Amino acid sequence: MAEKMKRTHHCGSLTIDNSGNQVTLMGWVQTRRDHGGLIFIDLRDRSGIVQVVFNPEYNLQAFEKAKEIKNEFVIAVKGKVLERPKENINPKIKTGEIEVYADELEILNTAKTPPFPVEDDIKVDESLRLKYRFIDLRRPSMLHNITFRHKVNKAIREFLDENGFIEVETPMLTRSTPEGARDFLVPSRLNPGTFYALPQSPQLFKQILMVAGIERYYQITRCFRDEDLRADRQPEFTQLDIEMSFVDVDDVISLNERLIKYVVEKTTGKSVEIPFRRITYKDAMELYGTDKPDTRFGLEMVDVTDIASRSEFKVFSEAAHAGGKVKGINIKSSAELFSRRQIDELVEKAKEFGAKGLAWISYSSEGIKSPIAKFFSQELLEELLKRMEAQPGDLMIFVADSDPMLVLTSLGQLRVHLGRQLDLIDKNALNFLWVVEFPLLEWDEEEKRYVAMHHPFTSPMDEDLDLLEKEPARVRAKAYDLILNGTEVGGGSIRIHKTEIQERMFKVLGFTKERAWNSFGFLLRAFEYGTPPHGGIAYGLDRLVMLLLGLNSIRDCIAFPKTQNAACLMTEAPAPVEPKQLKELHIQVTN
Ligand code: AMO
Ligand code: AMP
Repeated sequence: MAEKMKRTHHCGSLTIDNSGNQVTLMGWVQTRRDHGGLIFIDLRDRSGIVQVVFNPEYNLQAFEKAKEIKNEFVIAVKGKVLERPKENINPKIKTGEIEVYADELEILNTAKTPPFPVEDDIKVDESLRLKYRFIDLRRPSMLHNITFRHKVNKAIREFLDENGFIEVETPMLTRSTPEGARDFLVPSRLNPGTFYALPQSPQLFKQILMVAGIERYYQITRCFRDEDLRADRQPEFTQLDIEMSFVDVDDVISLNERLIKYVVEKTTGKSVEIPFRRITYKDAMELYGTDKPDTRFGLEMVDVTDIASRSEFKVFSEAAHAGGKVKGINIKSSAELFSRRQIDELVEKAKEFGAKGLAWISYSSEGIKSPIAKFFSQELLEELLKRMEAQPGDLMIFVADSDPMLVLTSLGQLRVHLGRQLDLIDKNALNFLWVVEFPLLEWDEEEKRYVAMHHPFTSPMDEDLDLLEKEPARVRAKAYDLILNGTEVGGGSIRIHKTEIQERMFKVLGFTKERAWNSFGFLLRAFEYGTPPHGGIAYGLDRLVMLLLGLNSIRDCIAFPKTQNAACLMTEAPAPVEPKQLKELHIQVTN
């Protein structure tokens, strides 16, 4: 054989400027086509595809060898770049103006027939894609997603480095602490009967780094939570974790706006306007019925409880008088759009979302049509229409309930449903939104106590500090979430840095001093040695990348994700282990 070939060019990089060049390419065979004495191969490497021609008159030996080639074989080809005749130009590929005439071929490796073709828009079960992830990742869209993710990471590191942040790694084997999601546990061989926990986030370590004087920390790191999984939730996921000293809410928010602007503009070419809109948790719930509103479309909810309380419609007045709410949405210019049957479907949807019913008023050119209008005096009806900013042509829907939260969440879900159904969502928009002033605590019915809405180290707002013991439910936190197109992409807070407030917080959470020290002693001890005011944020990096790429699942931007059952189909993890291993760990499996 001729001397070993050495790669000179990448397939996708060849252009008409290379015509006449002698090149050596290496890659995978996308397709082989035999055509009247000529063999054409589409050769693929990470940079793209180029057509290689084997012509017996040009080189008989290479031509004969090319007959053995099948899809996904790995080959090396030496040849000459030639301009294609006009009629053979393929405008669909970047290298479509040229082709490579082969005069040497080496088969570097053979390949089995792949379980699905290496191309986009294939109809194949995701489980097959996950099992053969190495084939799946060869497909251009997946390669693009993974490459894009790399660019996001790179841009993040550029910006944070420029702004004085230091990347510090924190442990993966740490201790289990209460108050979060369920931990993944790792048994300790050297300390029988004890366990490490994999970190749900570096939260406590990053706070300790602030005590340690790092001042500006970040880390792109894996986090582990044993939760039920969804399209935007994985058992292990990646956070961009950030913490800063000597800051308050506005400092963290404004730095993060600049970070997001930099990263998004650098990686997508789309422009991002800062500052982002801020909305309080309370307003988000009242207007959108969720703490992660999709603000790419309107359909805001309007409170009509006071008007409804004065109507004869019992469902409305009773809900209002029982401390509940009545809220409506004006679906602008939709009276003619919805048939009776479609309105009935909307009522059914509302029930799926938890509402007991859905009242409606259709204000068409022929006047008012509504099953509830008869319960309103003319005057009251006009007041209602005015509040709803109704104009002829509008369709209005209402939910009433004695449980105000149920009104908000059911109508909020219906709002999102309508946004999709009426195609009101601009798929190209990137709507960033801060939700601020979250409640510090929420009542846990099961445990019959208050639990921290974020975590126990979140600082109350200064103006609400006095309410901590008196009216815990009313205390707002210095916490903020960043929402992108209706998904929570990040969240954080200013932390408690004073022992006295931390002790009050633990008390409200029902922790004795002893239990607090048993659980979080390492943090509390650190806090006794000079703690700067500090705060930060963590982004779900998988989610951010997913949304920037317009994907529907974070699995499509994670190289080796897990299924809904937290399994890896490629490695078949989790899997049983040898009895010997269990014995070493002093572990007995009971079923
Ligand atoms: P939080 O728990 O809100 O905050 O997590 C931060 C962000 O991580 C993403 N995320 C997830 N992504 C994929 N799969 C999951 N299972 C998953 N769980 C969370 C979300 C979320 O906004 N230590 C605090 C941050 C802080 O206070 O600084 C924390 O972990 O996008
Ligand atoms: P009914 O009195 O049950 O026939 O209901 C009259 C109208 O009020 C129907 O259009 C119902 O869908 C609607 N409705 C019933 N319960 C509620 C509710 N909790 N909120 C809003 N509308 C309701």
